Amino acid sequence: MIPKELDPSTVPDGCHPVIEVRGLRNAFGEQVIHDDLDLTVCRGEILGVVGGSGTGKSVLLRSIIGLQVPETGEIDVLGENMVDRSEDEAKNIRRRWGILFQNGALFSTLTVAENVEVPIREYFPFLKPPLLDEIASYKIAMGGLPPDAGPKYPSELSGGMVKRAGLARALALDPELLFLDEPTAGLDPIAAAAFDQLIRSLQERLDLTVFLITHDLDTLHAICDRVAVLADRKVIAVGTIPQLLALDHPWIQEYFNGPRGRTAANSYQEGVTA
Ligand SMILES: Nc1ncnc2c1ncn2[C@@H]1O[C@H](COP(=O)(O)OP(=O)(O)OP(=O)(O)O)[C@@H](O)[C@H]1O
Ligand SMILES: [Mg+2]
Repeated sequence: MIPKELDPSTVPDGCHPVIEVRGLRNAFGEQVIHDDLDLTVCRGEILGVVGGSGTGKSVLLRSIIGLQVPETGEIDVLGENMVDRSEDEAKNIRRRWGILFQNGALFSTLTVAENVEVPIREYFPFLKPPLLDEIASYKIAMGGLPPDAGPKYPSELSGGMVKRAGLARALALDPELLFLDEPTAGLDPIAAAAFDQLIRSLQERLDLTVFLITHDLDTLHAICDRVAVLADRKVIAVGTIPQLLALDHPWIQEYFNGPRGRTAANSYQEGVTA
């Protein structure tokens, strides 16, 4: 039995919901991915989303941003209904968030600067190139890349730089909300830790709300305010890591208390107390 404060349909005290998902059901043919899934993301938090591979984390993200039309359910993002809206309304709402997709999804034929300019051109087609370049340079710096990364093509970048370029593009339109799908996957532990700190500092400086899908236990310990656990086709619980650890659920215990989970918890504790 999940206590009420960890129940995903509960809105925590003092929470201003930025994302509200209620009764979500997604299926591909016979395969049901989500069934009666609830989740609330509060303004200003970094919410981690975890779950085994193939449990539907990316599909949940696609539903929230309107790329996957659910069979049933209600999804509100930044006060707008995502399920039943016109294309104009969808365009307006898309402007208010940034997304770093699981595979980076940079355009390979465009430079980093041109990639960052894509969303800016979409919404501000009359901006002159010098101003576009200036905004792109600023975003590239926010992504933690050196200025000489701007003219490079994605194939000339390391994996970590591709993530930073994707982050710079996600920040292009000054979003209120950031979606990150596995941002540290494939990075070495030092690069991953640096990326975590970049996300935390951007969140604080820009007052962002962050929806962060990750398998990375270090990321969860280091920067997530709450963690939502996806299993059995729904969010089974959402809370801080200590709150989740108090639950007697096999996947949660195995995930956080398995050998890798314990190492991450210990190294984070050592880092904090050192
Ligand atoms: N467009 C699609 N058509 C059919 N099935 C799909 C589609 N997109 C996803 N699926 C299926 O939905 C399930 C959930 O996929 P999803 O990509 O959300 O998993 P995930 O939790 O993000 O996994 P990972 O941790 O590996 O990224 C998988 O079984 C996948 O094969
Ligand atoms: Mg995924």
